[in-house]
Amino acid sequence: MTKHKLLLVSLIVAVAFVASATVSMAAPIVIKFSHVVAENTPKGQMANKFKQLVDERLAGKVVVEVFPNSQLFGDNKVLVAMLLGDVQMAAPSLSKFKKYTKSLQVYDLPFLFKDMNAVEKFQQGPLGQKLLMATKSKGLIGLGYLHNGLKQLSASSPLRVPADAAHKKFRIMSSDVLAAQFEAVDALPIKKPFSEVFTLLQTKAIDGQENTWSNIYSKKFYEVQPYITESNHGLLDYLVITSTEFWTGLPDGIRTELKKALDEAIIFGNKVAAEKAIDDRQKIIDSKRSEVIELTPAQRQLWVDAMKPVWKQFSKEIGQEYIDAAIKANN
Ligand code: LMR
Repeated sequence: MTKHKLLLVSLIVAVAFVASATVSMAAPIVIKFSHVVAENTPKGQMANKFKQLVDERLAGKVVVEVFPNSQLFGDNKVLVAMLLGDVQMAAPSLSKFKKYTKSLQVYDLPFLFKDMNAVEKFQQGPLGQKLLMATKSKGLIGLGYLHNGLKQLSASSPLRVPADAAHKKFRIMSSDVLAAQFEAVDALPIKKPFSEVFTLLQTKAIDGQENTWSNIYSKKFYEVQPYITESNHGLLDYLVITSTEFWTGLPDGIRTELKKALDEAIIFGNKVAAEKAIDDRQKIIDSKRSEVIELTPAQRQLWVDAMKPVWKQFSKEIGQEYIDAAIKANN
C-alpha cells in the first residue's frame, strides 16, 4: 500500500470509529419533573423514587431531573410549559386542571369521599380510570393518580361551625368548585399559587387556607396559623401527567419501563401519604404552635349541610355519573 492509500484507509477507519461512538453515545432522553411541594412529602418522595428507579434501570438512556418547591414552574405555568416541551412530567393537584377539563372537578366536591379507601376504589374503577384521559384532547395524558390525603382547614381564629368562617379570606387552588365551597359558608375564596401561601398567611393578607397535614407541616403553615380544624372536608390528590407528544414519541421499550417505574413510585408515594397523614398531624400537635380542633359530629354536620349544595351546582359540568360512582365507592 502506498503512503497515500494508507493515510486514506486510516482516515476512513477513524471517521467510522467516531461515527459509531456518536451513535452508541446518543444523548439520553431527559425528563424534567416539576412540582411545587417540598421533597419531604408524598409527591416529593414519589418523584425522587421515580428518578432512583429510572437511574437504576435505564442508566445512560433516560435521565430524570426533579425540580421541587416550584423551582422550575409554579402551578399556574407547568401545564403550559409541558405543552411547549419545556417540562415532561408533573403531578399537579386534581384541583388545577380547570382550563383543560371540567370532569376532574368531581374530586373537589366537599365531603364526597368518606376516606382514602373510597378515593382509591373510585380511582381504580371504570370512571376513575376514564378520567385519567380527561385532558387528552388538550394534548395531556394522565399516567396515574397519586394520593396526598384529606384536607383540613387552617385559620387565624378557631373554626368550629360554618359561621366562624364567614367573611374570612381563604386561599384556594385554581378551582371553581373550591371557590363555591367557601362561598357556601359566606367566606371569601382567593385563588393563589401554592408558592405564595406561606407569605400570604404570615403577613395576614389572608385568614386561612385548606390543605393536607403533610403540606401544612412541610411548608410550615402551622407556624403562622394558630388553629387547624380537623375537617377532612375534601380531597387533595394528584394526576401524574405528561404530554401526549412526548409520551407517544418515546421508543416502546423505554415507555414500558418508565410506566413500570412510575407505577412502583406511585405505590411508594401512596404509602408515604398514608404515613404522613398520621405522623405530620402528630408533629404539628407536638409543636404546640397550632391548636388542632376536633369537631363534634353535630358541628361537622353543619359544615356538610352548608357545603354539600355545591354538588348540585356543578353536577352538569362534571357529569352526574361521576358523582354517582364516587358516592358508590363509599360503600
Ligand atoms: C396546593 O396548591 O395547595 C397543593 O396542591 C400543593 C400540592 O401540590 O400539594
